[in-house]
Amino acid sequence: MPATVKVHLFGKTGWIGSQLLRLMVEKPYEVTCSDSRMEEREQVERELDAVQPKYVIIAAGLTGRPNVDWCDSNQQETIRANVIGLLTVVDLCATRGIHVTYFGTGCIYEYDENHPIGGRGFTEEDAPNFTGSFYSKTKGMVESLLHSYSNVLTLRVRMPISDDLHPRNFITKITNYPKICDVPNAVSVLHDLLPLTFVMMEKGLTGVYNFVNPGVISHSEILALYKSLIDPNHTYQLVNKEVLKTLIKAGRSDNCLDTTKLESALPECQIPHISVSIQDVFTRMKKNVRKNILLTGGAGFIGSHVANFLVERYSFYHVVVVDKITYCSNEKNLDPSANKPNFVFIKADISDAEKMKEIFETYQIDTVMHFAAETLVDNSFNNSNAFTNSNVIGTHTLLHCARHFGVELFLHVSTDEVYGEVKDGIPRKETATLTPTNPYSASKAAAEMLVQSYHHSFHVPVIITRSNNVYGPAQYPEKVIPSFLGNIRAGKTCPIYGHGQHLRNFLYVGDAVEAFDLLLHKGIIGQTYNIGVNNEHTVMSIAKQLHEILGKPMNIEHVKDRPYNDTRYVIDSTKLHLLGWKPKTSWKEGLKKTIEWYLKHGEYYWG
Ligand SMILES: NC(=O)c1ccc[n+]([C@@H]2O[C@H](COP(=O)([O-])OP(=O)(O)OC[C@H]3O[C@@H](n4cnc5c(N)ncnc54)[C@H](O)[C@@H]3O)[C@@H](O)[C@H]2O)c1
Repeated sequence: MPATVKVHLFGKTGWIGSQLLRLMVEKPYEVTCSDSRMEEREQVERELDAVQPKYVIIAAGLTGRPNVDWCDSNQQETIRANVIGLLTVVDLCATRGIHVTYFGTGCIYEYDENHPIGGRGFTEEDAPNFTGSFYSKTKGMVESLLHSYSNVLTLRVRMPISDDLHPRNFITKITNYPKICDVPNAVSVLHDLLPLTFVMMEKGLTGVYNFVNPGVISHSEILALYKSLIDPNHTYQLVNKEVLKTLIKAGRSDNCLDTTKLESALPECQIPHISVSIQDVFTRMKKNVRKNILLTGGAGFIGSHVANFLVERYSFYHVVVVDKITYCSNEKNLDPSANKPNFVFIKADISDAEKMKEIFETYQIDTVMHFAAETLVDNSFNNSNAFTNSNVIGTHTLLHCARHFGVELFLHVSTDEVYGEVKDGIPRKETATLTPTNPYSASKAAAEMLVQSYHHSFHVPVIITRSNNVYGPAQYPEKVIPSFLGNIRAGKTCPIYGHGQHLRNFLYVGDAVEAFDLLLHKGIIGQTYNIGVNNEHTVMSIAKQLHEILGKPMNIEHVKDRPYNDTRYVIDSTKLHLLGWKPKTSWKEGLKKTIEWYLKHGEYYWG
């Protein structure tokens, strides 16, 4: 039995690092990952001496978020990681006889008269001629310094392409830019190239290699495939390089890299030409990025906004909306999606186990976004069984199907009301104890418990959200804002429960949609996320503000309060902010949009 080969990885959480890690699972390696900062020499030294690896892989460094422009604005940090850190690790490995594989970049060249578009590519021997971005400048400099170390294999990756829509994927990047400069370029298809890392490492190769597919491909060739195979609605505008320069801070290099050295070093491996490889990328991507989403409660308020957004934004997702069509829902909410090929509506009750099973099976559901619920707190005091049936049994039924059919995500939509009232004003984190006080919030908390249990017991991949009060167009006029609006316009009195000093935070529905979109794509399985804003108003103040905006004299009546009425909910949404969400709609703007919608559609919308 040969001794296991020890491999130590720097950059385990990075995009390329995490892919290498996954590939190494299948290798007979003992893999360890660095926890040190590369520029901290003593830390790295201790780590290397403790692990004593045969091979080190460096996939760590700063590439800039969301793009290399960042490195131009953060030069010292870039030097610290990409130059000092890298040289520190390499130097320590050299003195210990450890082989290092380092992921460098091919973005250090620019087409020139000796290497014109359509002509010969840059070889590993050519001196870098592109310093238009600070990132490329440091990468070029450090690569030449690495020539002095005989233990280093440098793999020049360029415009890396993966089989998904990861934000770092070159394809994702160019689909997010409205204006594109169309130039043929050498690119690295990671599916083809990353596995070769280990072949080269085990051969003990050193020196520099252009780590790209043979050939070049232009932006418009990639986008044409993207449009035909992934998103037919995608649009972009072609601009020349001069216009592009006005849109970005750091320059972008365009080049063709010669792959002769790479192909000669690996005669046993066939590296596909980019024109062949890119077709395969999109075939795999089509499979990878497609989602069959079951969105429950999609004829209701929030669910319909989310469904319409997903259908429009992601034409490669298939959205199956299931709704029982209770009194507060309206199929008209789904009009924008109705004729779209990636949308289907089914009238059904989520607690109907047979029907749900049939839907999961027929539409091969892989993602559940669960909005359906009985939602009016007032109703829950009188008819709490309906709440248990839909909110608890309905959720349980869906969980059962999710487990049975092995979905990839069960996104469960809950509420801040599960925390119960927050008298001390301390914002509740997701870890706080749930102390619901009314049958609605109790049914939502009970559903959450089932969701958690299916995650722990059966590994159903779940995410739970707890949001503030959501407001906006098309909310059934029983919730405070639309019901007051209707009353004021009809010259009726606005009923105020008790003293009317109960506080609520109001989140605009457009911001809620963005939060759900983010969690669908970047939420971490098993986690709960608060979706909250700092926009607190008393019920009395809402009545005053709406009367003022509509130019009507205040007309309110204090009525008997609910059997129990929570005074306040305050939640801490740091976790969601860390994921990249922040609300964009001000209260003034959100109210304006809401009022405009009700003035246009009125209450007749619901028949
Ligand atoms: N609106 C808010 O302020 C708010 C705040 C926090 C959380 N939430 C949660 O968000 C989700 C959506 O809320 P909303 O405001 O859009 O509610 P909504 O009442 O407008 O919509 C709920 C939808 O669920 C459907 N439904 C109810 N029971 C069903 C069943 N058994 N089978 C199939 N469909 C059923 C209804 O017909 C309706 O279309 C709910 O889970 C709610 O608890 C809402």
